[in-house]
Formats: sequence, structure tokens, C-alpha cells
Amino acid sequence: MPYDDPVPQANEPLDGGVVTKELPQQLAAIESEATAALAGAVDLAELEERERVAFRSKKSRYAELYQQLGSMEPDQRREVGRLLNELRGRLEAVAASRRTELAKAARAERLAADRLDLTEVLPGRLAGHAHLVTQVREALEDVFVGMGYEIAEGPEVETGWRNFEALNIPEDHPARSPLDTFYVDHGEPWSVLLRPHTSPVQIRLLERGVLPIYAVAPGRTYRKDTPDSTHLPVFHQIEGLVVDHGVTFADLKGTIDTFVRAIFGAGTRTRLRPAYFPFTEPSAEFEMSCVMCGGEGCRTCSGVGWIELGGCGMVHPAVFEATGVDAEEWTGFAFGFGIDRIAIMRHNIADLRVMIENDVRFLGQF
Ligand code: PHE
Repeated sequence: MPYDDPVPQANEPLDGGVVTKELPQQLAAIESEATAALAGAVDLAELEERERVAFRSKKSRYAELYQQLGSMEPDQRREVGRLLNELRGRLEAVAASRRTELAKAARAERLAADRLDLTEVLPGRLAGHAHLVTQVREALEDVFVGMGYEIAEGPEVETGWRNFEALNIPEDHPARSPLDTFYVDHGEPWSVLLRPHTSPVQIRLLERGVLPIYAVAPGRTYRKDTPDSTHLPVFHQIEGLVVDHGVTFADLKGTIDTFVRAIFGAGTRTRLRPAYFPFTEPSAEFEMSCVMCGGEGCRTCSGVGWIELGGCGMVHPAVFEATGVDAEEWTGFAFGFGIDRIAIMRHNIADLRVMIENDVRFLGQF
């Protein structure tokens, strides 16, 4: 024998020699071949196919032997049948263990394929940023700080005295009407209000008694206006106040020219038109050449080529008097304008109301 027969009974006559000598060897050959084939199947489909070839198919050598049982003597049939069943049991066990291995591998493969890739790069967390009005306010502050100004502040709830009387605004002025101004129910009736402009900060600066003054005061202001494309009941202004020896109207004009160019570009021109404010004398409205058409006339500037920005003028002696500043010694100028309007002009926005709608699709653009 070239090799040890794996089936122990192979060379012994079984049950009184009913089994031919070749049968154990045939069975051993079938078993070793089938075992190798089943154990080597690379996937479940191949395993199934190899099971068929090894013992399930009617054409398998195993089945051929099985079919011969019918023509055997009862003793031999019993003995050979037992051997065949045992062989089948062992082959099925090999197939089952291979099936378990392959199913496990297939499952692992599927899991690997389905696995969430947690290393995926996600976009960074969205960070907010300053509102457009805040950005423009800061840009304006930077320009004035660059010109040597300090940034001043005043409260949004202000006294009627600082807002009107000290600013030389007479009792019968329409701005004092509760139809225009929000009054606060505090103290004497009509004595406390939500400031409708930043000019009361002029009074606070003068009251401080520290001269000279070079200051801008940005902040929120309130008026009883129905919101539309050019008005909001809550808006922002920036006030400027300069008080020094020998300050002239030319200084005012130069200052306006300088900051308008700094914000809107060197090609922008400014002009003053006579106007009236109780707290400045002389007074003017200042305008800049239209950002859209450069002065030609277009829809943005209603065809005039100029856009009105705000009011200005030389500080009225009555304001100095109300705050105890010697009008013989000191002169000054003041100006004030809307920050929201500067913002929409700078960015060519058609409607002021987008400023308070808090739509991130709009706000995110700036
Ligand atoms: N306070 C004025 C307004 O709101 C603007 C202004 C400020 C005018 C300073 C003159 C001087 O319209």
C-alpha cells in the first residue's frame, strides 16, 4: 500500500467478508477528494456546487455506489449502506463547517462595505458674523479713529431735555410730537423718550466739559415710521462733534469729504446744500455723488446724480450756552447721518427692510 488507508476497516473483510476489498479504498478516495473540494470552496455558490458533485447529484460517484445497494445481499447492503451514510455524514459536516466559515466571511465583507465612513471630512461648523450694519458702523468708526476721533456713546432712552431743549429745538417743533417720537412712561409726562437721533450725545459730550472734542457717536435711534424700502422705525445713526479753537465750515466740508471718500471710494464727490437744524447755524444737508451713476443721473438717485446722506452745520451758540461752554472761545461743527442707509448704498441693496428680517440667505452674503 502506498499510503495508510484513512478508513480503519479498509483492509479487513467486514462482517464476514461481505464487502469487497476495493470498496473501502473507493470510499476513502471519494472522501479525501470531496473533503478537499468542499474545504476549498471559495464562496457559498461554489460550495453548493461541490456538494452536488461530491454526493448530492445522482451522477456523483457516491450516488453510483448508493444505487448499487439495491443489487447487494441484505448483509452487504446493510454494511455498505452504513459506510455510505457515515461517509455522507462526515462530508456534510465538512460542508457545514465550510458553509459557516464562508457565511461569516461574507457577512464580514458586507459589514465592511456597509460601514459608515466616520473619517469623512465634514464642512467646518458654520460661524456667524457681525451684521451688515455693525460692519458698516465699524468701518465708519475706523475711518474716524484714523482721523483722531474718539468713539462716544449715549443711551437709547434719553431725556427730552438733551434730545430737544439743549439742542435748541423749540416746544412747538413737530419732532416733539408723540406722533413722531416714542415717549417712555417714566418721570414727568413727555420727559423721557427713545432718542429719534444721536444728537443728544452732542449734549452729553459738551456736558462732560472736556475740550477740545473730536468724537463720533454711533447708535440705535427710533422714530414712529412705518417700515418701507427707505424707512425703519428702529435704525442707526452716527453723530459727529468737533469743538476746538477756530474750527471753520471749511473744516466741516473737508471732514465730510474725507470720510465719504474713505467709505465709498476716492472718486466720490460731496456737496453741501443749505438746510435748517435748530442746533446748528449755518446748517446744511450733505450729499455725495451717486454711487451707481457717478453723477449722471439714474434710478438710484432719482435722476439728480446726488444722494443725500445727512445733516450738518456749525454748533449753534444756544447749544454751547445750554451746556456751559464759552461760545466766545470755542467753535465747532456737528454732523449726523444714517448708518443703515450707508450700508444699503454701499452694497446696492434695494430695500432697507432686509436689515431686520434676519434672513441668513441675505445676511450670509456680507
Ligand atoms: N440730528 C439730525 C437728524 O437726525 C442730523 C444732524 C446732526 C444735523 C448734526 C446737524 C448736525 O436729521
